[in-house]
This record gives sequence, structure tokens and C-alpha cells, in this order.
Amino acid sequence: MVQVKDQGPAPRVLRYGPEAIAAAARLVARGIPVAVPTETVYGLAADATDARAVARIYEAKGRPQFNPLIVHVATIDQALALARFEPAAGQLAEQYWPGPLTLVLPLAEDSPIAALTTAGLPTVALRCSAHPAMRDLILASGRPLAAPSANPSGRVSPTRAEHVVAALGDRVALVIDGGPTLHGLESTIVAVADGEVRLLRPGPIDLGLAAGDLRGIEAPGQMSSHYAPAKPLRLEANIAQPDEWHIGFGAVRGDVSLSEAGDLVEAAARLFDLLHAAERSDRCAIAVAPIPESGLGIAINDRLRRAGAPRA
Ligand code: TXA
Ligand code: MG
Repeated sequence: MVQVKDQGPAPRVLRYGPEAIAAAARLVARGIPVAVPTETVYGLAADATDARAVARIYEAKGRPQFNPLIVHVATIDQALALARFEPAAGQLAEQYWPGPLTLVLPLAEDSPIAALTTAGLPTVALRCSAHPAMRDLILASGRPLAAPSANPSGRVSPTRAEHVVAALGDRVALVIDGGPTLHGLESTIVAVADGEVRLLRPGPIDLGLAAGDLRGIEAPGQMSSHYAPAKPLRLEANIAQPDEWHIGFGAVRGDVSLSEAGDLVEAAARLFDLLHAAERSDRCAIAVAPIPESGLGIAINDRLRRAGAPRA
């Protein structure tokens, strides 16, 4: 039977074990995403503190938007350095971790998580997977790992290594093969704030939250809570006005540049940091150089258009 693949040559596939973990950790250290099984679905994992590595996840998935990514930790202790745990959150972690429950919590004050990982949000989604492959890779890397499902944007989540290979092809360097996943369904996501637990995505863990709670579901990328600078933002600006702080790209220099080399991975990695810097600047408006509408540029432009859209 002829297998039709979306992409070019197949990636390296290694059966889960010490050799696979060591090879994957070397790639993670170089900022290269790897596919790794969890008990829910396979994830495409990279160092959550390295914006460039995270930009490569979005690039591989071909996501037209920067949705915030789930950050995977190996232990509750590791999670405590990344987010603020109010008592209700601590209880959920104690009870369900490791397991298929993701907690959306306020970022800790000096959280090392890259702004691109959370798409600029002041919250972070944390998950402690029960799969030993994900746990081993986090421990071997010594880093929290950002990992969305390892599928191209708009496609179903992979529950076998073969799914990842067929869908991502050479867009992923290494797939750790842990066989079929246990649940085959993404983790339950809840947001915890002010003693209240809200269901954002139903999943394997049923917390008994009423279906009505789902009405508030925040469609990825559409969230009203998405970070937007409090200053007017103008796009496609080759030249800035005197009252504008100019974010450049490529040949357009600006006050500061997303990427002088015109590299979209670098631009994505710097985007949220520069938007925050623009907001802190002494100028009352922001102008951004034209960004090509291709590859990661599509997600960058989407984010910039949202940031520049008039507020309701
Ligand atoms: O089972 C899973 O959760 C898998 C495995 C790989 O861990 N991961 C996964 O990630 O499904 P992903 O990126 O496909 O879905 C993450 C969801 C997105 O819908 C995103 O909007 C939401 O989590 N999310 C992440 N951070 C968030 C935040 N700070 N606030 C609200 N939603 C958030
Ligand atoms: Mg997904």
C-alpha cells in the first residue's frame, strides 16, 4: 500500500528509552522541537523559556495564530516556580498530577517562561503528564517544555508516532515512539482564579463542572483576555511619525527590530517582548514595519492586526 505523506522525507523515529531521551534532550538544548508521547496525545515539545525554540513549534505546526501553549513540568515543585498557585490550584495539582489535567494560572512574578509561549498572556497553562517519556525528557532537559499537540494546525491530534510522521514529515526532527497513547484525547483544561475553577476544555478528567460552565469557553486566539497594547498600533509602516515608536523588520530599521535579517522565526520570538517594550516607551503610539504574509508571518500579522484593532 502506498502511504501518502503531506511532507517530505520521514523524520527520525526512536523507540522510547534512554537513547531516545538523550537524543531528544540534545535537540531541545539546541532549540529544536521534538515529538514526544504523553498519556493524552503526542506533543511537539521545546524549551518553554526559549522564545526561538517556541517560534519553531508554531512554524512546524503552520499555525496561522499564536495560541498560548501548554507548559509541561515534571513535578509540582517545578510548577511552583512558574505560576502562582492559590489553594484551589494546589489541591487540584495534588489530586490529579501527574495526569491529564491542565491548570491555567497567573504567571509567577519572575517566571522564566517566554512571552511567546503564553502568547503574551499574564497566565500560563501548566500540565504534569503521567507519561514517563515526557517526564524523562523534562528532567533530561532541565527545562519546562512547551508542547501543543504534534499535528499541523487544523488537523486531528496524533495518538501514535505514525500519525506524527504522516502529518508533520520532515517538519519534525525526531519522534519518540511510545506506542499508542492511553487516552487519545487532549487533557482537561481548567482556569483557577479567585477560588473559582472554570472549565476551558473538557477532557479525560471530569471535575463535575456543569456543562453550563462551557459557555464561557475561550476559543484559542479569540480570547478577549489576549494581550493587546494600550497604545494605538499602525501596521505596514515603512516610516514612523515622531510620536510613534517604530518596530522594524528587515530593511526597515525602526527604533528596534523584530529581525534585522528579516528572519520570521526570530521575529516571532521577539514579537511579544517588543510589544511590551513599545508600551513602556515614552512615545504615545506604535508603528510596525510590513511583515511578509507567509509562513510564520501569517501568525505575526494576525497578532499585530488584533493588537491594532479598535477596542470595544
Ligand atoms: O493533552 C494535551 O493537553 C496536549 C498534550 C500534548 O499535552 N496538548 C494540547 O495542547 O492539547 P494544544 O496547544 O493543542 O492545546 C492547548 C490549549 C489551547 O486551546 C490554548 O488556547 C489553551 O490550551 N491555553 C493554553 N494556555 C492558555 C492560557 N494561558 N489561557 C487559556 N487557554 C490557554
Ligand atoms: Mg491541539
